[in-house]
This record gives sequence, C-alpha cells and structure tokens, in this order.
Amino acid sequence: MSRRRAESPALQLIPDQLSLPSLREAAASCQACDLHETGTQTVFGEGAVGATVMFVGEQPGDREDLAGKPFVGPAGHLLDEALARAGIDRDRVYVTNAVKHFKWKPQGKRRLHQKPNATEIAACRPWLDAEIATVRPRLIVCLGATAAQALLGASFRVSIDRGRVTERPGLPPIIATVHPSAILRAPDDESRHAEMEAFVADLTIVARRLKGQ
Ligand code: URA
Repeated sequence: MSRRRAESPALQLIPDQLSLPSLREAAASCQACDLHETGTQTVFGEGAVGATVMFVGEQPGDREDLAGKPFVGPAGHLLDEALARAGIDRDRVYVTNAVKHFKWKPQGKRRLHQKPNATEIAACRPWLDAEIATVRPRLIVCLGATAAQALLGASFRVSIDRGRVTERPGLPPIIATVHPSAILRAPDDESRHAEMEAFVADLTIVARRLKGQ
C-alpha cells in the first residue's frame, strides 16, 4: 500500500469485518478530505458481493449526489444502454466511483462538476480497495482517466491503452475505457455515434472475457 494511501484517515474507518452494508455505513461519515463539505452525502457503490465485474467511475454527479446512488443520471443511462448492447447483465455488475463525494462549484443556479485532485482520490482509495476486497470481481473496468489513473497510475493514458487488459499486483485484471460523460459531451451527432460504438466495442471485450472467450 502506498504511503499516501496509508495516511488516508479513511483507513481508520474501514471495519474489521468487511461487508458491503458495514462499509456503506462507515463511509457515510467519512471526512477524509474536504469534499464531505460540498457533497450532500457519501455515494457508495452499488451491486452485490460476487458481481463478476466492477465498473469504477470518477465521482458522483449532481443527480447521484442527490439520489445517493452511483450512475443514475445521464451518464448512468448511457452506461446502461452500452452494457445492454454489449450483452453484460446489469445485475451482475458492481458500480462505484474512485471518489465518493460530489465535487462542484456554483455556476448560476447549477452545480458545475469539478475534477477531483490527486489528494482527494488518494484520500478515498481505502474505500475502493475495501470494495474490491469485498466484492472480489473477476475484472475491473475503469471508466475514464480519473478511475484509470487511481488504479493504474498517473502515467496511464486511456486514449492509448483503452480496451487492453492490464495487470497490477493485488488487483483483479483491469480494462480502461472512456467515461460515458465524454460521449455525452461529444461535439456533434456523428462523433457521439462513433464514440458510442467504440465504447460498446470495449465493453464487448469485457463481455467476452467474462464468458472466458
Ligand atoms: N459520473 C461518474 O463518474 N460517476 C457517477 O456515479 C455519475 C457520473
């Protein structure tokens, strides 16, 4: 475990007996970084122990922050559509984020998403490690650069290495792809369509691997 992770105050909150309910309850009072002041609540992962694949996003968005559930807003709907097209059963998936509080700044009446920094990602890492140890997925899928860099290091480039299986000691095999929000932000219909097709192609690699092909 890296020194930065070892120093995260979140480590003190990890229960001795790992279970998703005990982790969720403990994470609800996490103040390991300042984001607990901006987020409405801790948005913990969702899914079952034994889920074959864990999807890791960046952080909850506006909708997720209010609902207390990951990937329930527009990015989540796009993820659901891509999972269905790739033939991945949503019920066998665990979905979580590298950072579990919503980071935002006001813009008029809106809450504008802010990217979490390395300190916030490291502060939250014990929760992600505990989710991985509890769920024991066969494969992890990083959605976007924040999740990929959290698990694969700052030099990992999704644009270069998307769709490839990467191994890291102590972790299940990891595949990184784009974040669904990047597809939603595509400048026009044509590029949005192309990006969606590439996303589904990456998830099809995941589906084949899960089927042992
Ligand atoms: N984006 C994320 O990375 N995670 C969510 O839960 C929602 C949007």
